[in-house]
Amino acid sequence: MHHLRIDIDRLLGRINALGEIGRVNGPNGEWGSARIALSREDALGRDLVVSWMRDLGMSVSVDAIGNAVGTWPGSDPTAAPVMMGSHIDTVRTGGRFDGNLGVLAGLEVVETVQQAELRPKRSLQVAFFTDEEGARFPPDMLGSLVYVGGLALEEALDAIDSDGVRLGDELNAIGYAGSIPCPAAVFPHAFVELHIEQGPLLEDEQVTIGAVTGVQGISWTEVTVTGQSAHAGTTPMRLRRDPMVVAAQVVTEARAIARRMGGTQVATVGHLNVFPDLVNVIPSRVTFTVDVRNTEEDRLQQAEQALFAFARRMAAEEGCDITTKPLARFKPVEFDDRMIDLVEKTAQALGHSVKRMPSGAGHDAQMLARVCPSAMIFVPSINGLSHNIAEDTAPADLAAGANVLLQTVLTLAHE
Ligand code: GLV
Ligand code: MN
Ligand code: MN
Repeated sequence: MHHLRIDIDRLLGRINALGEIGRVNGPNGEWGSARIALSREDALGRDLVVSWMRDLGMSVSVDAIGNAVGTWPGSDPTAAPVMMGSHIDTVRTGGRFDGNLGVLAGLEVVETVQQAELRPKRSLQVAFFTDEEGARFPPDMLGSLVYVGGLALEEALDAIDSDGVRLGDELNAIGYAGSIPCPAAVFPHAFVELHIEQGPLLEDEQVTIGAVTGVQGISWTEVTVTGQSAHAGTTPMRLRRDPMVVAAQVVTEARAIARRMGGTQVATVGHLNVFPDLVNVIPSRVTFTVDVRNTEEDRLQQAEQALFAFARRMAAEEGCDITTKPLARFKPVEFDDRMIDLVEKTAQALGHSVKRMPSGAGHDAQMLARVCPSAMIFVPSINGLSHNIAEDTAPADLAAGANVLLQTVLTLAHE
């Protein structure tokens, strides 16, 4: 194991500087960022990270879906590079660490290696992938999915947000429709993504490093229930066709199914729109999203089937129409055993407690795993919070994770 260590103050400096772009302040001093994919803030964040890549002497390429890759050449130009990275887009209530940590720790690794005047055999790459969050343009992990050839470029460019704005037009507008073709012509030797856990398990068990075994399956669906809009005061209860009541039943059934199934099963309704959205009007239409996840594909399918059968039954009982539109559907992913071992052993060699665990959240690494051995390193999230501006991780844990990234990458880069 190399004696090298990253500089936590330099890493925190970049995390906070990037976090300032689209900064959102909470009432108690907590703060995070809103850099929705392909927004003006996303563009400014991209420009800043690209400027840091150039400052480090990295060459920067941008592909046709806006994924940016900085490369610092190794001693053997014929050897496939080792890639680090993640995403720098955020949800509207994003923290400073989700995604950003994996990209900025990648830059920190490159700078640490440069300062030690090391020149690994393989080039080191740091990537940020477009629209990982998918909150504006579903599916999530869109950029990395296109990078690996899992979604056609044209289809991704034609994705539209809830205002009818086209992804390709926004990409052009922010100047990140690059010239490098998708999918990529050459894939990395390996991909390593450092990320905050975004959940409570590491903190609860007082473990510093998660060696991520895989990512659970993700199912996103938009449901629209249509009934009859009518006067709230004059329409007797027995004559109503109220889509809100159907939506409410589905929300509670989603929880009931997940509770009944147990294990890793989770289910969430996080978005709901009511039309016409007025105090004295029975709604005509309710649109909501359902997010269902499980580490096991057959269990995930079971949950989906049970929930949507229930929703159709409730809609029929209320005399409402119901339609569903798939937004994202990814099967569970298992990471390469050798890569999981490498993360675990590296963490142990650095003296950290480490635990093997699946990821509850989606990540770019699950897409890269389709084309090269991929690994993820988790660090604890304070109070388990993420997708929340109060998201935070102790500096010592950030440093631990970044050092595991450094040593893991050095091992891979000398292969
Ligand atoms: C994406 O980051 C997700 O897990 O929702
Ligand atoms: Mn993320
Ligand atoms: Mn996220």
